[in-house]
Amino acid sequence: MDLQKLLSGPLTRLNPRLAEWAYSILRRIPQVRRRLETEFDGLVSTLEEAVKPYRHNVPSYHRLPHEGVDRREVLQQLADLAAREQSPWKDGFVSGAVYHGDDEHIDFLGKAVDLHSQANPLHADLWPSATKFEAEIVAMTASLLGGSRADDEIVGTVTSGGTESILLAMKAYRDQASRHGTKHPEIVAPVTAHVAFDKAAHYFGMQLVRIPVDESFRADVPAATAAIGRNTVVVVGSAPAFPHGTIDPIEELSSLAADRGVGFHTDACLGGFVLPWAERLGRPVPAFDFRLPGVTSMSADTHKYGYASKGTSVVLYRGRELRRHQYFTAADWPGGLYISPTVAGSRPGSLSAACWAAMVSIGEDGYLDATARILDTAASIRSGIENMTELSILGDPLFVIAFGSETLDIYQVLARMNERGWSLTGLHRPPALHLAVTLRHTAEGVAKRFLSDLKAAVADVKAHPGRAGGVAPVYGMAATVPARTVVEELLERYVDLLYEV
Ligand SMILES: Cc1ncc(COP(=O)(O)O)c(C=O)c1O
Repeated sequence: MDLQKLLSGPLTRLNPRLAEWAYSILRRIPQVRRRLETEFDGLVSTLEEAVKPYRHNVPSYHRLPHEGVDRREVLQQLADLAAREQSPWKDGFVSGAVYHGDDEHIDFLGKAVDLHSQANPLHADLWPSATKFEAEIVAMTASLLGGSRADDEIVGTVTSGGTESILLAMKAYRDQASRHGTKHPEIVAPVTAHVAFDKAAHYFGMQLVRIPVDESFRADVPAATAAIGRNTVVVVGSAPAFPHGTIDPIEELSSLAADRGVGFHTDACLGGFVLPWAERLGRPVPAFDFRLPGVTSMSADTHKYGYASKGTSVVLYRGRELRRHQYFTAADWPGGLYISPTVAGSRPGSLSAACWAAMVSIGEDGYLDATARILDTAASIRSGIENMTELSILGDPLFVIAFGSETLDIYQVLARMNERGWSLTGLHRPPALHLAVTLRHTAEGVAKRFLSDLKAAVADVKAHPGRAGGVAPVYGMAATVPARTVVEELLERYVDLLYEV
């Protein structure tokens, strides 16, 4: 009997809470525990191949070497590993992950990192250039997203990534509301909003109230209306959301939030550096930014379609008062007066230098051109998928294309695509896959290769529907086992594995 069968039989007939409770009892029975361990080991070992390929063929260190290894040798090891990992993303086999990736651009960013490798924005007096870069990154992003220099009211900070931008915005709303006596702050967000909102709720003692999406995967406005209560501090919408690339009805949601006197956050981590250009290119882009008066904060990732190196994002606020609730200050610490705008203390100024360099060097023309290429490629991929009768597109996507199947196990398609070198994103609830189209996919022949591989993968699954493989069983389990903690336990084991030498 496998884990899925063990848990999904009787447990599926229970509601989720009861299923969790039943699982917590079941897992304590030694026989069940042993079976669970065996199943977990089996599932984790299917993932092990992918994430631990160097165990037996590259030097590894369990402790510091007695004598330092020669720098040339260290650099050689770094170069070898980078070379081994380059092809999948460079040749456009990967969803998202590397958004630009041209050699010249990478070299240019590397030079910027080199030149500012010692900079730390925590010491603004030592590296005023770092704060110059960050102030300008924020200003350029704000002006792109509906802020205007005349009113100077859209302000923000640079963070380490989309998750940190979201965490900080949620903390700002929590702290602002606590001044007015809200003790149990709630975030209202569609089920499709990024999981970073769950993380924020978890870290900051907030409650996340998830609302459903409609058949086109956009937030259900009547459900949002019903979900806003006296503890709500912020409503969230995505432009677009990670899973299906669909843009929530930001105009309706933000005006609803304004009417009810609460904040509204547009998560434009994915779309912040695509949608403004798409709009200028004449594509149908619904309003999503600070031009809507109800939008009080936004997140936009420079390290995605802003084409910066990994490690930067921007969080923006309407007004300095809200931004101040993000800061941390300490006036009574023996180490001196301390102020830190974001989660980390010391930060890599080199990444802000590279981000600034990317934005300034690409400029409006460069972003417009990149966006046009991405949207054209995405449109051709979308229509290619629409022509495959076994697959269907979810929602109405622009550049993140999600698709599922009524007739096939889509996770088997994922596994067959993996065998052909592709790394697509598996989604669930409902089961689907997506491809976030980047500049890597705009190279000659990549979209064509994707569609022909997908066609072959679909044919393969049709011909051999029972053949498992890859992560299909893991997604299968996540979809059918009702006790969330079972799947979470598996995910924890996966992370444990990542930290094994
Ligand atoms: C819509 C959206 N929000 C937030 C994030 C989180 O960004 P990060 O992975 O940079 O923390 C992502 C990541 O893909 C995203 O797509």
